[in-house]
Amino acid sequence: MRSKIVAGNWKMNKNLSETKGLLGEISDKLPDTEAEVIVAPTFVNLAESAHILESSKIKVAAQNMHYAKNGAFTGEISADMLLNINVDTVIIGHSERRAYFGETDELLAKKVKAALENKIRVIFCFGEELEERKSGNHFNVVESQLKNGLFELPADAWEQIILAYEPVWAIGTGETASPEQAQEMHAFIRKTITEAYDASIANEVSILYGGSVKPSNAGEIFSKPDVDGGLIGGAALVADDFIAIVKAI
Ligand code: 13P
Repeated sequence: MRSKIVAGNWKMNKNLSETKGLLGEISDKLPDTEAEVIVAPTFVNLAESAHILESSKIKVAAQNMHYAKNGAFTGEISADMLLNINVDTVIIGHSERRAYFGETDELLAKKVKAALENKIRVIFCFGEELEERKSGNHFNVVESQLKNGLFELPADAWEQIILAYEPVWAIGTGETASPEQAQEMHAFIRKTITEAYDASIANEVSILYGGSVKPSNAGEIFSKPDVDGGLIGGAALVADDFIAIVKAI
């Protein structure tokens, strides 16, 4: 169901002591909000984070997951391992996974399928690179990422999907897509889903924007009708900034 969401992707930041400190600060300062608030700490601190937030409104997500049930996949994490520590949301397809770890659309589709089969909710990330936007190819790129990653799914699987449009050129660069650029792409995403499935699925899916969201620009981006919230990187590592972004929604 479509809802307002602010999710913090901590990436490879914060050791255990720092994680505890940041979670404590975010919990203490969390305002009363209708929005769902999610944090995604690194794998080694997930179990402890889930434990700390057990009775909190803040939810915990993983940053990645392997598609296999178990087995000889050194360094990987399974759906069962996440569920067993009460983590039922996973980020899949982040551009850093695609760019630095060679994750292809085909692999991501397998991960999405495995997560959903295990009733793990997926935050599916996608977005174009700078050259693709400059050459006017951004809509085609996004359409193909959606198609290859998600459009084999049955209609009812979409209840478990959250989308995160993250233009690669706006991630960690300080350069944000303008609210108009975000709105334009989010509307295009809904149109693409309407064509592949139907309007009710397109209107019910939450679409987050990610890429240099900060307290100073969050309000304007979130005010756009097709933007349901944000996936936050750098600003999620500073409690006051993350809280300000939660307040902006
Ligand atoms: P920044 O907010 O640091 O640009 O990162 C965005 C992001 O990649 C969230 O997944």
